[in-house]
Amino acid sequence: MHGIESQLYEALRTVVDPDLRQNIVEAGMVKGLAWNEEDCKVSLTLQLTTPACPLKDYFSSQITEAVRQVLGERWEVQVAFSSQTVGGGTELVSQVKNLILIGSGKGGVGKSTVAVNVAIALAQLGGRVGLLDADIYGPSIPILMGLEQAKPAVREKDGRPYLVPIRKYGVEVMSLGFLVPAGQATPWRGPMASNTLRQLLTETDWGELDYLVVDMPPGTGDIQITLAQQFRPQGAVIVTTPQRLAWADAEKALMMFRMPLVQVPVIGIIENMSYFWTPELPQRKFYIFGESGGRMLSQRYGVPLLGEIPLLESVVQQSDAGIPPALESGTLLSDVFVRIAGEIVRALSRLALASPV
Ligand SMILES: Nc1ncnc2c1ncn2[C@@H]1O[C@H](COP(=O)(O)OP(=O)(O)O)[C@@H](O)[C@H]1O
Ligand SMILES: [Mg+2]
Repeated sequence: MHGIESQLYEALRTVVDPDLRQNIVEAGMVKGLAWNEEDCKVSLTLQLTTPACPLKDYFSSQITEAVRQVLGERWEVQVAFSSQTVGGGTELVSQVKNLILIGSGKGGVGKSTVAVNVAIALAQLGGRVGLLDADIYGPSIPILMGLEQAKPAVREKDGRPYLVPIRKYGVEVMSLGFLVPAGQATPWRGPMASNTLRQLLTETDWGELDYLVVDMPPGTGDIQITLAQQFRPQGAVIVTTPQRLAWADAEKALMMFRMPLVQVPVIGIIENMSYFWTPELPQRKFYIFGESGGRMLSQRYGVPLLGEIPLLESVVQQSDAGIPPALESGTLLSDVFVRIAGEIVRALSRLALASPV
C-alpha cells in the first residue's frame, strides 16, 4: 500500500459510526478514496444506511480532524455522501423499504400532527418519503397538508389500476379523505375498515420509497392489529401527552405492538404537548398536562424518548392552514421534528442491520 494510503486508512479507522459501533473502514462505508499529495487534498464518499442520516456533519468533521492529525493541518478533506437505505420492505408493498406506524391509544394527542411533520422532516433530510392517512374514521391529513381539494389520479400498472399519491412538501401523500366527500361519515365496521386500509396501502402506486409514514387511527383494536400483522412494519412510534389519561392508553398501544402475534419493534415514544410555550414569556414552560408522562413510559418499558414537542398556539393555526411547522427551518418546532426524524431513521438502520432479511 502506498505510504499515504495506509496513513489515510489508519486515520479513517479512528472514526466510529456511533450506531454501528464500528469504525467506518471496517463497516465498509468508505468508497472512492482519492488523494493528491501536491495539493494536500483528500476526497472520499461515505456510504450511509439512510439518505436522511443526521450524522453527516459529525462524520465530515471527524474525518477531517482524523486525516489532519495523521497527515498535517494543511490537508483539505472533502467528504461526499451516498446512501443505500436499509430496510427489508414488506411483501405487500415491496417498493417501500421502511413502513413506520405512528400510533397511540388515544385520539387528540397529536398523532396526525406528528406524522405529517415527521414525514416532512424525513424528506428534508433527503429521504424518499410517503405519508398514508390510515385514520379512515377521521382522516385529517388532507387539511394538515393543505390538500383538501386534491383528487388522486388512477394509473394502470401491469394491467391493474393504482391510485397515484399526491406530492406535496416533498412527500407522497394518500388519504381516504381524498376519495370520500368531505364531511361524509365513514361508519365502517372492523373487517371492512381493515380491508379498506389494506386496499389504500397496496393499491397506491407509491414508487420507490425509503420511508412510508402511517398515521394510525386511535385505539388498539382489530384494525391496528390486522395492519401490524399483515404488513409487518419495520417500526412503530407511540405518541402521548404527559397526562395520565393519555399515557395509560399509549401504554396499551405499546403492549399491543409487543404482543407475540404482532411483534412490531417500538422505536420510541414522542411526548407531544409537553409544555405550553409562548414567545411572550420565552423563559417559561407551563406544564399544563403534567410532567414527564412520556419519560416515565420510556423508562418503564426501556424504549427511547424520541422527543418532547411543546404546545404552541402557532401549531393550531399552521395545522388548520395546511402549512406544517416542519417546513420552516431553525425554529423551536422544526428543530424538534428534525431531531425526532433523525432518531427514527437511526433506530431503523440499527434494527435492519441487527436483523438482516
Ligand atoms: N404541539 C401542539 N401544539 C398545539 N396544538 C397541537 C399540538 N399537537 C397537536 N395539536 C392540535 O391538537 C389537535 C389534535 O391533534 P391531531 O394531530 O389531530 O391528533 P390525533 O391525530 O392524535 O387525533 C389538533 O387541533 C392539533 O392542531
Ligand atoms: Mg389523527
